[in-house]
Amino acid sequence: MQPFRFPAFFVLAVTAALLAGCGQKSTVDPEESSVLTSPVAHFEFQAAPKIPPGNRTGEEVYNGLCTTCHATGTLGAPRTGDAAAWAPRIATGYDALVLSVINGKGNMTPRAGSVDLTDTEIQRGVAWLANQAGGNFTEPPTEPPTGQ
Ligand code: HEC
Repeated sequence: MQPFRFPAFFVLAVTAALLAGCGQKSTVDPEESSVLTSPVAHFEFQAAPKIPPGNRTGEEVYNGLCTTCHATGTLGAPRTGDAAAWAPRIATGYDALVLSVINGKGNMTPRAGSVDLTDTEIQRGVAWLANQAGGNFTEPPTEPPTGQ
């Protein structure tokens, strides 16, 4: 039995060493760690209050004002990227969706509660949000920078 037990233990030891090595490699892999941290950095950048109201992109409008409910489905909001939840709404058309936000719908208050949102920004936000879930709307372009 002795010659059999030794190799068995040896195999276990080697396996443990390999597993330990794997764990160590994944914690220091710079590519993997940047993948893990970049969404956070991205979110912080989007949250910076540097964009003048009126000229925010759909993604900026969404990140600043729509995530509260749509990221998690709070108050019964259709979740961002949930194609099944969005398909019947997208089918009503872009204009209908934009009007729902301007006028409010169900638990979503008029202008989604953000009085400084322009109609064009609402159009951009709706296009961006719906397009995450299978929509194919064209977001109105932002104004070019004024060169200040
Ligand atoms: C206070 C929570 C809340 C916020 C903030 C919010 N929504 Fe909503 N939204 C909802 C809810 C709830 C519904 C579902 C309304 C219903 O069908 O009864 C909804 C539905 C929608 C719809 C579908 C409307 C339709 O006709 O079916 C669109 C488009 C939409 N939201 C866009 C936005 C955009 C763009 C923003 C950010 C500017 C935003 N929402 C912010 C709660 C919110």
